[in-house]
Amino acid sequence: MNIGLNRCFIVVTICIHYFCCLVKSQPFDYPIANLSTKWINSPSAPHSVDFSDGSTVRAILLRGTFGPRYACGFFCNGNCDTYLFAIYIVDTNSASGITLVGFPQVVWSANRDNPVKLNATLELTSDGDLILRDVDATIAWSTNTGNKSVVGLNLTDMGNLVLFDKNNATVWQSFDHPTDSLVPGQKLVLGQELTASVSVSNWSQGGLFSLSVTDQGLVAFIESNPPQPYYENTVSGTKTSEEPSYVRFQNGSLAFYIISSEPSQPDRVIFLPNASSLQYMRLDNDGRLRVYEWMPSEWKEVVDLFKDYFRECDFPLVCGNYGLCSGGHCTCPANTSWETTTYFEQINNRQPALGCSEKTPLSCEASQYHSFLELNDTTYFNFRSDLQNIDPEQCKQACLQNCSCKAALFRYGWNSSVGECYLPSEIFSLKHIDKLRNHYNSTTYVKVQKVSSVSPRRKKTNRIKTILGFSLGSLAGLCFLIGIVVFFFWKKNNDDEVEEDYLDQVPGLPTRFSYEDLKVITESFNKKLGEGGFGSVFEGTLTDGTKIAVKRLDGLGQIKKSFLAEVETIGSIHHVNLVRLIGFCAEKSHRLLVYEYMPNGSLDRWIFHSSHGFVLHWQQRKKIILDIAKGLTYLHEDCRQKIIHLDIKPQNILLDENFNAKVSDFGLSKLIDRDQSQVVTTMRGTPGYLAPEWLSSVITEKVDTYSFGVVILEILCGRKNIDRSQPEEDMHLLRLFKKKAEEEHLEDLIDKYNEDMQIINREEVVNMMKVAAWCLQSDFARRPSMSMVIKVLEGVSEIEHNLDYDFCNLPLAKVSHQEVNVSFSLLPSVLSGPR
Ligand SMILES: *[C@@H]1O[C@H](CO)[C@@H](O)[C@H](O)[C@H]1NC(C)=O
Ligand SMILES: *[C@@H]1O[C@H](CO)[C@@H](O)[C@H](O)[C@H]1NC(C)=O
Ligand SMILES: *[C@@H]1O[C@H](CO)[C@@H](O)[C@H](O)[C@H]1NC(C)=O
Ligand SMILES: *[C@@H]1O[C@H](CO)[C@@H](O)[C@H](O)[C@H]1NC(C)=O
Ligand SMILES: *[C@@H]1O[C@H](CO)[C@@H](O)[C@H](O)[C@H]1NC(C)=O
Ligand SMILES: *[C@@H]1O[C@H](CO)[C@@H](O)[C@H](O)[C@H]1NC(C)=O
Ligand SMILES: *[C@@H]1O[C@H](CO)[C@@H](O)[C@H](O)[C@H]1NC(C)=O
Ligand SMILES: *[C@@H]1O[C@H](CO)[C@@H](O)[C@H](O)[C@H]1NC(C)=O
Ligand SMILES: *[C@@H]1O[C@H](CO)[C@@H](O)[C@H](O)[C@H]1NC(C)=O
Ligand SMILES: *[C@@H]1O[C@H](CO)[C@@H](O)[C@H](O)[C@H]1NC(C)=O
Ligand SMILES: *[C@@H]1O[C@H](CO)[C@@H](O)[C@H](O)[C@H]1NC(C)=O
Ligand SMILES: *[C@@H]1O[C@H](CO)[C@@H](O)[C@H](O)[C@H]1NC(C)=O
Repeated sequence: MNIGLNRCFIVVTICIHYFCCLVKSQPFDYPIANLSTKWINSPSAPHSVDFSDGSTVRAILLRGTFGPRYACGFFCNGNCDTYLFAIYIVDTNSASGITLVGFPQVVWSANRDNPVKLNATLELTSDGDLILRDVDATIAWSTNTGNKSVVGLNLTDMGNLVLFDKNNATVWQSFDHPTDSLVPGQKLVLGQELTASVSVSNWSQGGLFSLSVTDQGLVAFIESNPPQPYYENTVSGTKTSEEPSYVRFQNGSLAFYIISSEPSQPDRVIFLPNASSLQYMRLDNDGRLRVYEWMPSEWKEVVDLFKDYFRECDFPLVCGNYGLCSGGHCTCPANTSWETTTYFEQINNRQPALGCSEKTPLSCEASQYHSFLELNDTTYFNFRSDLQNIDPEQCKQACLQNCSCKAALFRYGWNSSVGECYLPSEIFSLKHIDKLRNHYNSTTYVKVQKVSSVSPRRKKTNRIKTILGFSLGSLAGLCFLIGIVVFFFWKKNNDDEVEEDYLDQVPGLPTRFSYEDLKVITESFNKKLGEGGFGSVFEGTLTDGTKIAVKRLDGLGQIKKSFLAEVETIGSIHHVNLVRLIGFCAEKSHRLLVYEYMPNGSLDRWIFHSSHGFVLHWQQRKKIILDIAKGLTYLHEDCRQKIIHLDIKPQNILLDENFNAKVSDFGLSKLIDRDQSQVVTTMRGTPGYLAPEWLSSVITEKVDTYSFGVVILEILCGRKNIDRSQPEEDMHLLRLFKKKAEEEHLEDLIDKYNEDMQIINREEVVNMMKVAAWCLQSDFARRPSMSMVIKVLEGVSEIEHNLDYDFCNLPLAKVSHQEVNVSFSLLPSVLSGPR
């Protein structure tokens, strides 16, 4: 937290220029600048100083000649790719400037959201504008004070950067634009706020916490929509009509002043330790407001202002998002101990305080499956009364009706059956309350996404058929099939009164639909779900309400024989990680396939960051990878006939309402006998996912392993393998992967949008990248089988060592594309082609 604070001895490097300047007897204190002055952020700037904590300061103005003092100028910390124009406190210990102690403490910055690079410039123009330009001349920040009669820039002894006019009046001052800190004497005025940085290394104000003076008093908020207050130091009851107009940080106190009483005594104060030296106050990125003080030679925290305010379970992130705090311990919400379905799991089992993640994220599209976990005697760090005089049932209903509501927090009124209801849109830590010591009876209803069942509701008649189908032998089954066929013919001459029976399935075999039926079911092919090389996919609803996906294959009517053969094969394949073929239609020139409906669509919608801001978390991604591996293992190793998919890519991985992944469209797959280990075929599939041996015409199931490797990488990196929006050198993910592997910086590739992967699970993610590398071996014999992949994912086996990161290298690249097409024994599947 207080990384900037110094606890060790300091090694200091001072630029040679620094000495030169000193020798040239530049005044050591240079607090004022005139118009038409320009400074460059360059290591050769006159006052460039590197500190051993990794920070560099290049002072432009400096006030005071000894001890800790204010300076402004360029500042960087850490890797120093980017710089701030900032005000900081430095101590060079003596006027000679030889010994530097303490690390620089930034108390204000101009461009925290927009840091600049080396060779950026700051210019006080001839017309009085102060402009920060990046090295490419773009304006990163400016005071917009051109034409306002500015005559100079002054860094005051309070640490305020002031543009003044010829009467010494202030035209612009940094005190009016606070960032995350206050210095002694500085006010935080009504409407102004301090916003915490994202992290110690990222100064951006996108942090979660802010502190502002409102008409209620001093209030700290945690970011959400709308922000939720977690600390309130409200104005005393007698003065409610009057607003605090500002708070001032001063020696010994944080004082509330009311405009009407100015400049008299403060209305109220929060006492702070008396300053023995220079102090500053900062809203830290963990949401705490702390005062730091210069103790000769180092900075120390002297007080955490919120410390006494929070009991052990009161801080909004004490147990992370959705974490339930009880006596300081963190758990995840669960209905009751005997309830078998769990909706939340710990983000990290070893660190419960990191919070919980939803096993199935709430989806507004599937709001009919929203339900509540009931947590008695549970409340929240803040309670806003959104609805009054209602009962818990009405409170829950109100939450169900608003998709942004994530929980219904209810508390009973005093001795009453009704109460108040709060419907927050984001859930931070919940807390368990001791009923005896609490004034309220509070219940929290956490909204969860219920697991729904996709399988169609079976009719009574059908159940009988099912029993028959299973219990009679194969001969009887055959007779039964014949019966069904006869039934179809009969159906053709009858009308809709038997439709429901007609739609029922024979277990294990796909149902045959008539074209008319499918037209009705899909409302004349009205809702298109997607489009692929061979046709379009439409949404439909069976009479019992089951949703289905209907794929209409265009212009393939003539290949009738293979169509039926393929349908039969595909229809007989059942596995939880394979999209199930429910039925088909082959009538005149119409060829359609009916699949189970997958509410969350294809994987590409979720991993390549597009419009919706939703990001799959690590556990979900891991599960998806395992699901795909299981689906493929089934196709490769467990089917009666080995099936090679040949077109594994995110578009062909579909997700159900619980984000279980299922492989779809084994349409491209070529059926081969188990003992025939290789098959020659035409080059198919999708560029970017093709294994190198496609060029050599030796095709085994390992081409799927390769494509699977590409998909893993895409899932981990959150980008497409070939991404033309990237700069040329980064366009090919595999090439980048190789480069990063050589540099041993695989973590650079991790999806930038996913913090749990970037930080908490980084090691696991990098390990998964190695699984991908194994699957991507250019020599297909070195790739693992899919069942081996599962063993590795489940932790019972190890990844092979000595991986070759030259993924696109072709060991036997002698055969050209054209030659490949000449020999193959089977017709290309009519079901081929991407969806
Ligand atoms: C600013 O201008 C004044 C008067 O023109 C001059 O005395 C002073 O030295 C200048 N200051 C700097 C820092 O150049
Ligand atoms: C900065 O400017 C110096 C001198 O003009 C030049 O040598 C250096 O390459 C520049 N650096 C960057 C990052 O632009
Ligand atoms: C500055 O003032 C001059 C003359 O009053 C005007 O022409 C010019 O547009 C102004 N510039 C800005 C940036 O306001
Ligand atoms: C600059 O600020 C100091 C206070 O630190 C003040 O005494 C001085 O008058 C200011 N100078 C100008 C030119 O405004
Ligand atoms: C502005 O401040 C400077 C330095 O503090 C002082 O010398 C000067 O007289 C002041 N000018 C006016 C107009 O007050
Ligand atoms: C800093 O955080 C902001 C907000 O979260 C983010 O947009 C930005 O990319 C981060 N910057 C760096 C350098 O990580
Ligand atoms: C700070 O100083 C004041 C005045 O000397 C004194 O009354 C007060 O007790 C001191 N506060 C602390 C916390 O030491
Ligand atoms: C703060 O106030 C105390 C008590 O009044 C005093 O002893 C101390 O010197 C003051 N500190 C500063 C930095 O002015
Ligand atoms: C939680 O339990 C309550 C009653 O015990 C039940 O009504 C409710 O459906 C359960 N919620 C979920 C999401 O399982
Ligand atoms: C919560 O309390 C109510 C009333 O005391 C009770 O009916 C209900 O079963 C409790 N729910 C759980 C999940 O314990
Ligand atoms: C839904 O809840 C959000 C957040 O609480 C609120 O801003 C929005 O107005 C609500 N929408 C409706 C339709 O009530
Ligand atoms: C809280 O709940 C208990 C038991 O369910 C009940 O006896 C008590 O009266 C309730 N208190 C209030 C204030 O409603």
